[in-house]
Amino acid sequence: MMSPPDPRLTMLIPAAVLALAAVVGLVWLAGHLVRYARTPRPLRPMLRRAWRITYTWKCTARRVGLVQTERSRPPWWSNRPATAVILRELIPAIRVAVEPWGVRVDASTVGRLGVEEFQNAASHLADVWRVGQVRVEQARPGLVRLRVLITDPLTSHTQWTEDATGSAGPGLWLAGVDADGQPVTIRSSGVSGVVVAGLAGYGKTSFLNARFCQLAPSPAVQFVLIDGKGGPDYGDLFTRAWLSAKDDPQLVRDHLARVRELMTARQCSIRAVLGVKNMWHVGPSGNWPLVVVVIDEAHTFLNETRGTDADSKRLDALARETARLVEELIRKGRNVGIQVILATQKATGDAIPTKIRDNCQVAVSFAQRTSEAATAVLGSDISGFPDEHPRRLQDPAYVGVASMVAEGRAGFTLVRTPYVPDAVADRIAGQTTHLVRDPLALLSAEAEVMTHGRS
Ligand SMILES: Nc1ncnc2c1ncn2[C@@H]1O[C@H](COP(=O)(O)OP(=O)(O)O)[C@@H](O)[C@H]1O
Ligand SMILES: [Mg+2]
Repeated sequence: MMSPPDPRLTMLIPAAVLALAAVVGLVWLAGHLVRYARTPRPLRPMLRRAWRITYTWKCTARRVGLVQTERSRPPWWSNRPATAVILRELIPAIRVAVEPWGVRVDASTVGRLGVEEFQNAASHLADVWRVGQVRVEQARPGLVRLRVLITDPLTSHTQWTEDATGSAGPGLWLAGVDADGQPVTIRSSGVSGVVVAGLAGYGKTSFLNARFCQLAPSPAVQFVLIDGKGGPDYGDLFTRAWLSAKDDPQLVRDHLARVRELMTARQCSIRAVLGVKNMWHVGPSGNWPLVVVVIDEAHTFLNETRGTDADSKRLDALARETARLVEELIRKGRNVGIQVILATQKATGDAIPTKIRDNCQVAVSFAQRTSEAATAVLGSDISGFPDEHPRRLQDPAYVGVASMVAEGRAGFTLVRTPYVPDAVADRIAGQTTHLVRDPLALLSAEAEVMTHGRS
């Protein structure tokens, strides 16, 4: 006959289970506390939000309709009749990660719950999670990525840093970050013309400075810097330039004529010197540098001057000649490594000749007041992208934000560009002055080596 269990034992078992649960709970709590303490202070609000999202996910998913019910039979071990119908609830599994801009939530798709259903639920999720925006994309088959934006990367000012550019070469142009805080690049390899337009004071010159700072430390880049504004904007950067000019139309014409001379000489010798017909196939080098011609406030030099007096006629002739030179450099300079970047407040035909503008492979627009101005720089397709339209950027919060066609992305992308303090740009120019070379002299030296061999 079996003896009844010891009553002390029956009391001990629930106590042991309780103690085990308490230990597990304490370990769990300690783990969370350690993780919280280790997280940098600015990321802690993101971490708290990430935990809230994780621990309330099942309830949230049910409330916003991200749940699917399935009718099935009881499992074989169940004591319910095999013919009974049971309802199973399917909720997408999630993994969360903390990001500088918020929380990244990766959700596995389930049945009919895919990217479209998440997109439809995005605004409800934003309400439940008390954030401005939840953006949804398909990361890969079976995985939907939600970006829970706690800070808006487009309105959060960023500053240019040397680390951010890393080892990016002249073929890559790091423009800034998009609305999701993801890096955005513009094509630079094989590009001979770039037009940057936007209302005064919205960040064109700063954008060009960021490009300058990215390229200046490379011996494979030489600059021609032309500032139509004539103010102090480029003062110290000129020390890193092969050629430079302020608002002196004649000097500008002369400089551009010299770049054209370089282009012609390079066209004649590229096959012999580089062994290819397109410099971008081998990339720019110290001996065959990419020549970046920056013309800020470009309309200053390209506008026709009306008037019958001798000075007006002279200026008009200079403007026509300058326009012809710029147009030729953009049309023919691509394969020999000449890149012209034009910045202007308006890219309409009266400011920049359409022949020049339409040959530029890359277009970037900061805020614009009118649709015509936006269409002039970005093309008529921009009217199909109301969210990315430069007219939306007139709010002062969008100083430094531009609409552009980015590398590897469909349509237009809004990009927060980093601000470059003058002191940083001046310091970089000062530290890299020793890299200035005359590309024409470099070419002659290469030709010399070709004929006489290296001694
Ligand atoms: N990327 C940016 N982020 C934040 N502020 C900026 C940015 N770019 C420019 N700014 C601010 O706007 C001002 C004007 O910028 P600037 O580049 O000179 O404009 P533009 O050349 O279009 O007239 C700068 O002095 C700076 O205060
Ligand atoms: Mg400017």
